[in-house]
Amino acid sequence: MATKQGMELVDRDERGVDRAFRKDVLAGLSQPDKAIPARWLYDDAGSQLFEDITQVEEYYPTRAETDILGTRGDEFAAAVGKGRAVVEFGSGSSVKTPLLLRAIDPAAYVPLDIAGDFLRAAAEDLAQTFPDLPIWPVEADFTKTVHLPEAVESLPKLGFFPGSTIGNMVPRTAVDLLRSMRDTLSPEESEPAHGLQPPMLLIGMDLVKDVSVLEAAYDDAAGVTGEFNLNLARRINRELGGDIPVDDLRHEARWNDAFARIEMHLRTTRDIAFTVSGESFTMRKGESIHTENSHKFTRRSSYTLLQAGGWTPTCRWTDSKRRFSVILAEASVLRSAP
Ligand code: AVJ
Repeated sequence: MATKQGMELVDRDERGVDRAFRKDVLAGLSQPDKAIPARWLYDDAGSQLFEDITQVEEYYPTRAETDILGTRGDEFAAAVGKGRAVVEFGSGSSVKTPLLLRAIDPAAYVPLDIAGDFLRAAAEDLAQTFPDLPIWPVEADFTKTVHLPEAVESLPKLGFFPGSTIGNMVPRTAVDLLRSMRDTLSPEESEPAHGLQPPMLLIGMDLVKDVSVLEAAYDDAAGVTGEFNLNLARRINRELGGDIPVDDLRHEARWNDAFARIEMHLRTTRDIAFTVSGESFTMRKGESIHTENSHKFTRRSSYTLLQAGGWTPTCRWTDSKRRFSVILAEASVLRSAP
């Protein structure tokens, strides 16, 4: 095990309140355009609701990406080669991982996740399926450069970032993340990198498509996505001693064409007043709290983003209905001239 059992990356105050959560919520609610970072949607209830979302008819991304990963294995193997260490960013409880591991026969698997218990449970499950594969889970915040286990230092790396999670970030944050992934996967400058193949990245990116299809995917008829969004308000009430009138909020998912993204909002149905952690807030009828962005890409926009992050695209796959893309990229050789 690469990390100590029970190690907590979350900083809590004397009452057990997650300090970063409180800071983000209070700052986000104090702005003229209220917004809370999407990462806070994923407490235990939120993570379960997201799993439920992947099962609803209208939410196509998970099925589309799984289709690609399950059918293009031979092509991944040819493009990637055998014997790499697969480093998965934010592994969670992914069902997609076995599809990739089966296809490319890697030398090691390094799942990175901030949720330690989840990470270890998933690693143990995977060890059952792949008894001969060395697995090195690392509990870490992958938005920063992560120091990988020594056991995989001398292996060529393949980063794996499925799910179009990159789409949750605005371009400048996405670029920062792509660059830190590159740093995480690149051999130390000090050590002789001779003979080590440059790192590669296999990344899922959802595609721009019909607005009606996109909006339905984020506002399913059964209301599962609505519950997922409203859970953030419930979580604030639960963990930060809030009294947000959840019944006066409604889920909204709308396409923002200028930014090529689906936005989730919690919109008020009347004027409301509430407190969170002892601070008072008011919202007028029709005002909203912006809770998530899900950027969608074209082939060109995905390539531009990857290149800005230090990655050169080399292969690209889409599902049969052309809803989703999986892109293979190689760490760019940085040079100062064109
Ligand atoms: C897990 C971030 C990929 O943006 O499609 C699903 C999250 N939000 N429905 C996405 C989500 C609402 C999902 N990601």
